[in-house]
Amino acid sequence: MKVTVVGAGAVGATCADNIARKKLCDELVIVDIKEGFAEGKAMDLMQTAQLEGFDTKITGSTNDYTKTAGSTVAVITSGIPRKPGMTREELIGINAGIVKTVTKNILQYSPDCIIIVISNPMDTMTYLALKQSGLPKERIIGMGGMLDSARFRYFLSTAMKCSPNDLQAIVVGGHGDTTMIPLTRLATYSGIPAAHFLETEALKKVAADTMVGGATLTGLLGTSAWYAPGAAGAALVESIVRDQKKIMPCCVYLDGEYGQKDICIGVPVIIGKNGWEKIVDYKLNEEEMAAFAKSADAVRSMNSVLSTLDI
Ligand code: 2OP
Repeated sequence: MKVTVVGAGAVGATCADNIARKKLCDELVIVDIKEGFAEGKAMDLMQTAQLEGFDTKITGSTNDYTKTAGSTVAVITSGIPRKPGMTREELIGINAGIVKTVTKNILQYSPDCIIIVISNPMDTMTYLALKQSGLPKERIIGMGGMLDSARFRYFLSTAMKCSPNDLQAIVVGGHGDTTMIPLTRLATYSGIPAAHFLETEALKKVAADTMVGGATLTGLLGTSAWYAPGAAGAALVESIVRDQKKIMPCCVYLDGEYGQKDICIGVPVIIGKNGWEKIVDYKLNEEEMAAFAKSADAVRSMNSVLSTLDI
């Protein structure tokens, strides 16, 4: 089994690190456009093999996609990250061209692979990859909801003074500071609603902190985060290659589900060996559906920028 990670920056390298440590494949290829960079990251990671106890063969490639041939999954992390004060949406002009080229290159050598998109603005980049590739919709998955939901559980666990592992909580909608929707009503602590443990105001604060979770880190780090985005990408790879059928909030193409059509946006899906296998209907209430529709409008307006770009 071969997995490719495109982009050897902080998110790509962290994703590759997690994939290797979890022993998800025999061969892992990292590709980057910068001469020698992916080769260096691959060599550094290989030097952790004995320390971490994995046998995955990791190789790096400077933009040579022949090395990625026959990949089961490819993760696209390429593109520029945001700087403090920037929104994810501001990256579209540069990242759209990169994601388009990378998608084409991957599919030239791995026509059957499943593509995971991490590059921002993630919802629009997922939509672009789908339209550009013409792949069946099940094989294009945007990672954003996984990351946002992990952050949601982190903030909830801090407020509730419990382990994030005991919490079930998901974020749907777009992967943007104002478009994501942490579903506080459906969050539970081992099956008991979070509202049983936290006042409404505290829950609202958790949701608000979650929504700007990425921006907060960008402010602290001077660039966007990488540990959680990389780990979220690897968790998706794991559910695919181990056919775990986990319910994961991901950005996928909707064709009427959740009241939306012709858009890629975050909803709960079952992830297995075929990619996303089923959209799960969480029966959102009226207020949540209205928020979802508003979020979809924002994502759709970002998608409309694609047609104005010279890519
Ligand atoms: C984040 O939210 C990079 O979009 C990513 O940190």
